[in-house]
Amino acid sequence: MGISPILRAQATYPFVRLNQAAAERRERGLEVLDFGMGDPREPTDPRIMRALRDGVRRRMGYPAAAGLPELREAIASWAGRRFGVALDPDRQVIPTLGSKEAIFSFAQVVLDVAGGRDTVVVTEPGYPVPGRGAEFAGARVVELPLLEAGGFLPDVDAVPAETWRRTALVWVNYPNNPTGATAPLAFYARLADLARAYGFVLACDEAYSELWFEEPPVSALQLADWSNVVSFNTLSKRSSMTGYRSGFVAGDPELVAALRQFRPNVGTAPQEFVQRASVVAWGDEEHVEQARAAYARKRALFLELFRRVGLRDAGGPSTMYLWVAVPHGETSQEFATTLLAHGVLVAPGSFLGPSGEGYVRFALVPTEDECARAVEILDDVFA
Ligand SMILES: Cc1ncc(COP(=O)(O)O)c(C=O)c1O
Repeated sequence: MGISPILRAQATYPFVRLNQAAAERRERGLEVLDFGMGDPREPTDPRIMRALRDGVRRRMGYPAAAGLPELREAIASWAGRRFGVALDPDRQVIPTLGSKEAIFSFAQVVLDVAGGRDTVVVTEPGYPVPGRGAEFAGARVVELPLLEAGGFLPDVDAVPAETWRRTALVWVNYPNNPTGATAPLAFYARLADLARAYGFVLACDEAYSELWFEEPPVSALQLADWSNVVSFNTLSKRSSMTGYRSGFVAGDPELVAALRQFRPNVGTAPQEFVQRASVVAWGDEEHVEQARAAYARKRALFLELFRRVGLRDAGGPSTMYLWVAVPHGETSQEFATTLLAHGVLVAPGSFLGPSGEGYVRFALVPTEDECARAVEILDDVFA
């Protein structure tokens, strides 16, 4: 039978393996405090839930790929308040079904293998979806390492011109999963200059732009020139709405027009009741501030623990993740296995890319009570 060789060649999605190990422990009747995946468990604001319910009509036709005008308006207004930018809601914004599907399929929109644009550049360790989507689109994928010594920013000056000439698309993700690092606007400006000089597209995955604990991170949307640049964002993390599936792409009008043409083929416009709930979510910051405060409290608990027991937080000041250096002499996977043996599930950095070796990632998604319990366990483990 003809199963795609790309699908066959792909290793099991690393989290599947992680979840299997946790399930085995649960089957033995033991508790697992799950810091593995970044699926927020904060409750969704009741006003958003109400808007979703009120958005259900007697008849609901296919949603249009361009999205509801009121949602595009709400997104443009949010970006205006948050980043001080003026997006044209009709030409520069398109809603997506969460950001994952849009990130996965974007290589199909810009790749031109026959024309010599066959390469997609991604960073590692990282969210695997941009690279996997590129592989399914038939791209050659080049991975740039994110190293602590470089502030977890890729060394774009080390990329040969020959690679840039073949590049259709470059993905960056700041605030970064898994390292928590943020990027300065100068970094985006440098990459955007390269994008225009070599004719590739710069795609900025900004899923974690609202989970910050020091300074609000900048967005690529704040660049003076949007040509060749798009930003992907989502309500998943900001509003704890992973199950709703609601995000957007914004930026270069030519790329947004290409998405308007491409997306009806896939049929991934969000349901209109989700779009109506999303209008409320982008219009309110209070629930986001509450979520941020809850993450900040959990973060403080763990940072204090790490100081007490001599573990090193190597990561940056944003996202729901802590990127923790593995104690000397152990691999990421060994260290994660030790923690799981005590009921604390974390992601080994090596699951997220070769340069993730030497670190583990804590996703601060369990409740504050569960976090306090995990801290108690870890205090004992490292006593
Ligand atoms: C870096 C990054 N980008 C995008 C996403 C996708 O989020 P969603 O599809 O829920 O919008 C995630 C989810 O974990 C992520 O970690």
